[in-house]
Amino acid sequence: MNKYMSIAALIFLLAASPVRGAEVPLYKDAAAAPAARAADLLGRMTVEEKFGQLQQLDGLWEGNYREEHLKLAREGKLGSTLNVRTAPFANTLQKEAVENSRLGIPVLFAFDVIHGYRTIFPVPLGESAQWDPLLAEAAASAAAEEAYSVGLKWTFAPMVDIARDPRWGRIVEGSGEDAYLGSRLAAARVRGFQGSDYGAPGKVMACAKHWVGYGAAEAGRDYNSTDISESALRNIYFPPFKAAVEAGVPTFMTAFNDLNGVPSTANKRNIAGVLRSEWGFKGFVVSDYTSVKELILHGLAADGEDAAVKALSAGVDMEMVSTLYRETGPAALAAGKISQADLDASVLRVLELKFRAGIFENPYIDPALEAKTLKTPEKLALALNAALKSMVLLKNEGALLPLDPKLKKVAVIGALADSRADMLGSWSADGKPADAVTLLEGIKEAVSPVTWVSYSSGAFAGATDKDLDKAVAAAAAADVIIAAVGETFDLSGEAASRVSLALPGRQLELLERLKKTGRPVVAVVFNGRPLELGWLNDNIPAILEAWQPGTQAGSAVAQTLFGKSNPGGKLPVTFPRSVGQVPIYYGHRNTGRPPDAKEKYTSKYIDSSFEPLYPFGYGLSYSSFAFSGLAVSPASIKPDGKVQVSFEVKNISRRSGDEVAQVYIKDEAGSETRPVRELKGFQRVTLAPGEARVLTFELGPAELGWHYAGGFAVEPGRFKIYAGSSSVGGLEASFEVKP
Ligand code: GLC
Repeated sequence: MNKYMSIAALIFLLAASPVRGAEVPLYKDAAAAPAARAADLLGRMTVEEKFGQLQQLDGLWEGNYREEHLKLAREGKLGSTLNVRTAPFANTLQKEAVENSRLGIPVLFAFDVIHGYRTIFPVPLGESAQWDPLLAEAAASAAAEEAYSVGLKWTFAPMVDIARDPRWGRIVEGSGEDAYLGSRLAAARVRGFQGSDYGAPGKVMACAKHWVGYGAAEAGRDYNSTDISESALRNIYFPPFKAAVEAGVPTFMTAFNDLNGVPSTANKRNIAGVLRSEWGFKGFVVSDYTSVKELILHGLAADGEDAAVKALSAGVDMEMVSTLYRETGPAALAAGKISQADLDASVLRVLELKFRAGIFENPYIDPALEAKTLKTPEKLALALNAALKSMVLLKNEGALLPLDPKLKKVAVIGALADSRADMLGSWSADGKPADAVTLLEGIKEAVSPVTWVSYSSGAFAGATDKDLDKAVAAAAAADVIIAAVGETFDLSGEAASRVSLALPGRQLELLERLKKTGRPVVAVVFNGRPLELGWLNDNIPAILEAWQPGTQAGSAVAQTLFGKSNPGGKLPVTFPRSVGQVPIYYGHRNTGRPPDAKEKYTSKYIDSSFEPLYPFGYGLSYSSFAFSGLAVSPASIKPDGKVQVSFEVKNISRRSGDEVAQVYIKDEAGSETRPVRELKGFQRVTLAPGEARVLTFELGPAELGWHYAGGFAVEPGRFKIYAGSSSVGGLEASFEVKP
């Protein structure tokens, strides 16, 4: 019998249990088991109250509730809100639900705390470039503390959608293109938000989103249809969600997209089937914003009631913002279109999580907590470290970097160098631009008192010739030009897909003119997606990928440029030469005619290289590292066996630095073609000058296996192992799997 004992059995048990007088009902007994409390409470609820618990409504952006929320809360018909936050608003609304409604069921307060609440960390794509799950966990933990302090108990994060199309604006919100890296980071972020008990103070419930396949939007156009093979679902798109479940995520959010013709918000096979029956997920599923109602536009539902029936019966427990469950549910139930069992199962899941979240016992937030929790020195220090670790050095010709802090004249060019909001990126919750350190401020802080720092805004959208002339003139006399280029925060994120990956505005034109000054140029790229940096790679001696680094942006970039910090990040996503190559990713299949520039009839382009500009896993350092001594043992294993992979990484430079050692496999032959490489292990290590370290990885069925049509298996045959500093090259060895 599953965890939710049959409702009848539970209610019978409760009815038979000795009642100590006519006092506290079981659901109010904090010592009772959440499932039992939920069953007791369910038995006391009306149909309208049940549908009300499945309703999440949207507050006002500044955190206030809407007047209708007070009434619904009093009527016990408001299960949850998004965007309502801070003690004055949350406590007032909560009081109506807890003290002035019939059953006193508290409201669950949720918000999009994606990469920080007030202290903003690098955007998730930038955080993923750290290749440091412990650091990602620490950032999520800090974000949870801040979110909790303003009355929130649920965040709509981590976003774990695999994305291989940089035209899609939401690539910024995830961990890039790889299932293994994405899985490790999904689990880390869940652990960070929740700790060992999401009901504890300072912790919030996490939410794995968007279930599923959202990142495969056709043409990179947000909300667009997706067609994903079973193999790609099982091996690429599902794994980060499975990792989140195994890390204890208690909620999922469905995606906007239709998947192979069935919208994810009514996809019974993936919700009731894969998520619940196969994976044993016990939490609850919330729709995305009005995605229940959008089933009508998709052409799946004939009307509102049909949409509610299809979503609820598919296993979507809570409806975000649209109100079809509440408005059409009772009649659909009476007509038998919604089963009592489905309704009660959804309500039980929501109630049980509310008990586990502790909001029955602690429904209110201490108004004094916020001031003590937000932007503490510890959180700001963590945000700086996170930003430093997210930096990816793409090019450093002639070791131009790090720069000498005693340089006489530094010209800082580009509006992004003096922008605060753009440093926070999209989904920056209650992050305040005023809190952000600009690159210009960071540089002034990093250089010596005798260094003259000039600034010119350069060439963003709408820049005039005069703007460019002014910028070039300012640069011409400098010892070094630091050009801040890339995207503003609103050019990526939700509903921000682009057909072009070029630098917006006249930035490239400006860079061409800056190059003509003959002065050394360092390009700092602020962006929420891979951009076309080919001209920069051919013409600019030093390029630092900074993403959108958050509150401590300027300090992190400047400390990296002037050598106080040594960049060690690696790309979590491939950078194409051209948008025409998209989708392009390292884990592609070999085809029967692998690309060969020398052979005509092979899989390539006649007008461009088939290679990416920068591959997945790539990143330089001010240090240099050597890999040697790859050993794989034993030489052959059974399908359920494990191999030990070891090799040495040595810092062969005179400067301490980080390297991210990466381990890939290639299954040479099997009943399905496998990617040319699959990441199956990584470790970021800090090595002193001359220091060598032997790293060891164990690869077993979980790493070697693949979801084939016949199920998950490690098929016999030869496997290659690669160990190196990116998804290209590296040391190579092989072993056999024998039946
Ligand atoms: C948005 C997003 C989702 C977010 C939700 C609530 O449309 O798709 O990621 O959590 O609505 O803001």
